[in-house]
Amino acid sequence: GRAFNDSFVQKEKEKLSYDLVPMKNGGVGVKVMYMDEEHIFSVEQISAMLLTKLKETAESNLKKPVTDCVISVPSFFTDAERRSLLDAAQIVGLNCLRLMNDMTAVALNYGIYKQDLPAPEEKPRIVVFVDMGHSAFQVSACAFNKSKLKVLGTAFDPFLGGRNFDGKLVDYFCAEIKSKYKLDPKAKVRALLRLYQECEKLKKLMSSNSTDIPLNIECFMNDTDVSGKMNRSQFEELCADLLQRIEMPLLSLMEQTQLKVEDVTAVEIVGGATRIPAVKERIAKFFGKDVSTTLNADEAIARGCALQCAILSPAFKVREFSVTDATPFPISLLWNTEAEDTEGVHEVFSKNHAAPFSKVLTFYRKGPFELEAFYSDPNGVPYPESRIGKYVIQNVAAQKDGEKSKVKVKVRVNTHGIFSVSTASMVEPVKSEESEDVGVETEVESQDQRPIENSSDVMLLHQEEVRKMIFFFSPTQTNEKKGDQPPEAKKPKIKVKNVELPIEANLVWQLGKDLLNMYIETEGKMIMQDKLEKERNDAKNAVEEYVYEFRDKLSGPYEKFVCEKDLQGFSALLTETEGWLYEEGEDEAKQVYVDKLEDLKKLGTPIEMRYQEAEERPKLLEELEYRLQYYATIAGEFRNKDEKYIHIDEMEMMKVEKCVSEVVEWMNNAVSAQAKKSLDQDPAVHSSEIKGKLQELNNVCEPVVTQPKPKVDSPKEENPLNEQSDYKTEDMGDDDKNSEMPQQNGECHPSDQNTISMDLD
Ligand SMILES: *[C@@H]1O[C@H](CO)[C@@H](O)[C@H](O)[C@H]1NC(C)=O
Ligand SMILES: *[C@@H]1O[C@H](CO)[C@@H](O)[C@H](O)[C@H]1NC(C)=O
Ligand SMILES: *[C@@H]1O[C@H](CO)[C@@H](O)[C@H](O)[C@H]1NC(C)=O
Ligand SMILES: *[C@@H]1O[C@H](CO)[C@@H](O)[C@H](O)[C@H]1NC(C)=O
Ligand SMILES: *[C@@H]1O[C@H](CO)[C@@H](O)[C@H](O)[C@H]1NC(C)=O
Ligand SMILES: *[C@@H]1O[C@H](CO)[C@@H](O)[C@H](O)[C@H]1NC(C)=O
Repeated sequence: GRAFNDSFVQKEKEKLSYDLVPMKNGGVGVKVMYMDEEHIFSVEQISAMLLTKLKETAESNLKKPVTDCVISVPSFFTDAERRSLLDAAQIVGLNCLRLMNDMTAVALNYGIYKQDLPAPEEKPRIVVFVDMGHSAFQVSACAFNKSKLKVLGTAFDPFLGGRNFDGKLVDYFCAEIKSKYKLDPKAKVRALLRLYQECEKLKKLMSSNSTDIPLNIECFMNDTDVSGKMNRSQFEELCADLLQRIEMPLLSLMEQTQLKVEDVTAVEIVGGATRIPAVKERIAKFFGKDVSTTLNADEAIARGCALQCAILSPAFKVREFSVTDATPFPISLLWNTEAEDTEGVHEVFSKNHAAPFSKVLTFYRKGPFELEAFYSDPNGVPYPESRIGKYVIQNVAAQKDGEKSKVKVKVRVNTHGIFSVSTASMVEPVKSEESEDVGVETEVESQDQRPIENSSDVMLLHQEEVRKMIFFFSPTQTNEKKGDQPPEAKKPKIKVKNVELPIEANLVWQLGKDLLNMYIETEGKMIMQDKLEKERNDAKNAVEEYVYEFRDKLSGPYEKFVCEKDLQGFSALLTETEGWLYEEGEDEAKQVYVDKLEDLKKLGTPIEMRYQEAEERPKLLEELEYRLQYYATIAGEFRNKDEKYIHIDEMEMMKVEKCVSEVVEWMNNAVSAQAKKSLDQDPAVHSSEIKGKLQELNNVCEPVVTQPKPKVDSPKEENPLNEQSDYKTEDMGDDDKNSEMPQQNGECHPSDQNTISMDLD
């Protein structure tokens, strides 16, 4: 969302260990090596890659695809920066339900769990949130009612964060290393990055320890080990100017919101840099009370976003909690008046105006006209460009009688905190007799007229306090606003129709459609490429794994199952393959690895098979022998006229006896043939054959020996009713399941199959 020549980008560029370059459109590109070639990716593309990574991480943890998300932004992000991030989400195919201001996410994460918030009629609870992260310092004041949070104001120092404190340490040690070792760390990027890492560690240690902490880096530059030390009080002295800057945003916040420190119930701090004791002390001193650290300093924002995403997503049930954000920068509109060639200007959204929010403005025009939106306080916006965009309201024409047409223009700060001229319409009287009505300039804010079909929209409407906005420009009273004019009730109702007007928007810093589409396509290709690369790597790893695993087993469990000659040949092949993997085979196509693995398996699989056969064979033979014994015993008892088997037909029992003796013979042959084989030869009988025989034996004998005894005395009892009642029991089982369903349905509606009840307590 920034131009390459933006001084902010230029300052940032100096600190980076990679190259930033200008893009054709004046934007920022990052120069990298990709697939052995130099490539330049736009910042939107790089952000998209990060989002791809996060999406994949989320998907692999959730084990389902992720498309909806909420992304946090610093509250001081301008429209251009917000749109840029939305573009990045679009490149990845993520549906960003909301760009959420960091501090609002923190406040949601704080408030939604609180059970003891004041009732709506009581005084709201005021909580100040303070966040100092890696690069920025942000504060906000929020009012909490039961199930409701309203952001009262925000303030920030976008250039004050943990990295500035690291920078102080780096500068200090650079100077020390220069004088002590005659080395210049700033001359070598690698050394400087290492120094940054070590200084960050040192900073963290100093937060918990006020004694001297050593800094030691081995082989820092030119094979020299360097060392130094620092303690907390020294560090605080070094960072005095940074610490002083903490107060400014706090003062600004209190001034904007007209709050006194006594009004503040709690001060919650988040962000890594708020762990620095001096930072904490400054904040506590300002408010005259201890700061609270009840929120997770590193995850508070992400958790808030996750909660917001659950609220906006129809797939989750979350406790009702309404969030009203505040517009960080006042926004004004500028237009040319038709009559005289003068300009009109009006601040449509004041600082800290509730958001999201829509307003309707009414203009009287004979032709198309232009509106220009801009931040009305450029000095308060950390961005070099105060213009937001130009909007041409097209197709405006005079009425049939030559009079000016009434044009209603809806302007909006949307759920992402982005300003837009969202719709425009021309009001045409259907009957012209009552044209006297033209010039009556009462306009009431209309509700968002989009059909409510979609849960995120419902959410939006819910939050938007729709207020009255009376605003008009009459032909005679150019640029004059009239407040709260009572509607003239006596007026006869004239029929009007609204004609939608096209709006041509020309936004500052907007990616063109073509460029965006190209980025989407490129990102898709790179994701595919990553997949292919992963498959190729997997194929290579499979070869490597096979080599190591087999070599291990050849000198272990497989040893007996391969003859000396084969063992030597195979071992040699494994060693050769290993060497190949690290040399000419290091970077091959997937198929080459697949083929290689096949070659190894040609030798390895028979050994593996012999081993497995030898493991299974004794167990299977034992089972077969057991079954043979079992059926032979029954046959013997039958011959002895045992009561149990008296009902079995003689012919059938003879089939059993025949089968048993055949299988006994087969088994004896198999066992003696196998006895002649050594372990390194393929087996004479395979376990699958033994399984087959076992199956055959059971198939022939089991039905015969398990024949039910006929019940001579009471054939009635042997009726199918018994079976039926058995079935009934089963049905009852199902019924039971069914009867459980409605209970579940009490919590989880059947149509809400995807609903996950989230218990936030
Ligand atoms: C930056 O470049 C844009 C055009 O890409 C130009 O309009 C603007 O004036 C330049 N700003 C500076 C500070 O050079
Ligand atoms: C709390 O409730 C009161 C009364 O309904 C209302 O005036 C006030 O704006 C509410 N505060 C918040 C934070 O919504
Ligand atoms: C911190 O370091 C300074 C300068 O080396 C020294 O004067 C001071 O005594 C040290 N303080 C502690 C608590 O070690
Ligand atoms: C931290 O402080 C304790 C004493 O308070 C000391 O024993 C310890 O060595 C210190 N740790 C470091 C890394 O200096
Ligand atoms: C460090 O090494 C570089 C190149 O090897 C050499 O140019 C430089 O003079 C050395 N610096 C010191 C202080 O020895
Ligand atoms: C929800 O609303 C968005 C924005 O208006 C729209 O793009 C999307 O298609 C809607 N989704 C459904 C399911 O209606």
